[in-house]
Amino acid sequence: MRKKIVAGNWKMNLTWDDSQALAMELAMLQSTQGQSGPEMILAPAFPNLVAVAQAIKGAAGMHLAAQNVHQAASGAYTGEVSVSMLKSVSCTHAIIGHSERRQYFGESNQLLAQKINSVLQAGLTPIYCFGETLEEREGEKTFKVIESQLREATFHLNSDQFSSLILAYEPVWAIGTGKTATPEQAQEVHAFVRKLIADQFGTALADGVSILYGGSVKADNAKELFSQPDIDGGLVGGASLKASEFAAIARSF
Ligand code: 13P
Repeated sequence: MRKKIVAGNWKMNLTWDDSQALAMELAMLQSTQGQSGPEMILAPAFPNLVAVAQAIKGAAGMHLAAQNVHQAASGAYTGEVSVSMLKSVSCTHAIIGHSERRQYFGESNQLLAQKINSVLQAGLTPIYCFGETLEEREGEKTFKVIESQLREATFHLNSDQFSSLILAYEPVWAIGTGKTATPEQAQEVHAFVRKLIADQFGTALADGVSILYGGSVKADNAKELFSQPDIDGGLVGGASLKASEFAAIARSF
């Protein structure tokens, strides 16, 4: 079912104490929203997952995500973290394919397909990120790039599996730059993605998938972005590190 979602990707920021304090403040603010608010997903760094899990325990509509996961179930992969480890600390979601993972850690669509498989197999929800670079946009390759990112990492799934994904369109040129895609630019890509999914899996499934926008989302631009017909919420970086700002974004539907 298509849901309204705000997800905070804290990236490599905050200590254990900072993470716990921020999550507790958000849990308090979220509880005042009642049933009508969006789902809120928090993605702290690995060592702080437990701190956030404790802080949001029992808070309605709040969920815990990892920022990455290894594709193998276990084994000799020094420095890596498996899906069952995430599950054991109450993680329900995992961000897969963030552009920073693609750019700095060389993650390919093929590898991301394996990560998505592992996450789904464990019963967790992947938040699959995709988006074009500035060069690709200027070279009019946006739709081609996005189609490959989706097709190669997710179109091997069956309908049941695909319907449990959350998607996040994050144009690389809008991440951390203060340059948000205009609501029209974002909507154009979201509508394109929904059409791709409809062609592959049918309209009913496409209509039910939540597609988030990410890239310099702030309290003062969230409302306009979220009011677009195919934008179901946001994947927020910098502005998710301040409780009041992120809570304001969550109230922007
Ligand atoms: P910013 O909101 O800081 O631009 O980051 C977006 C992002 O990368 C979320 O995953």
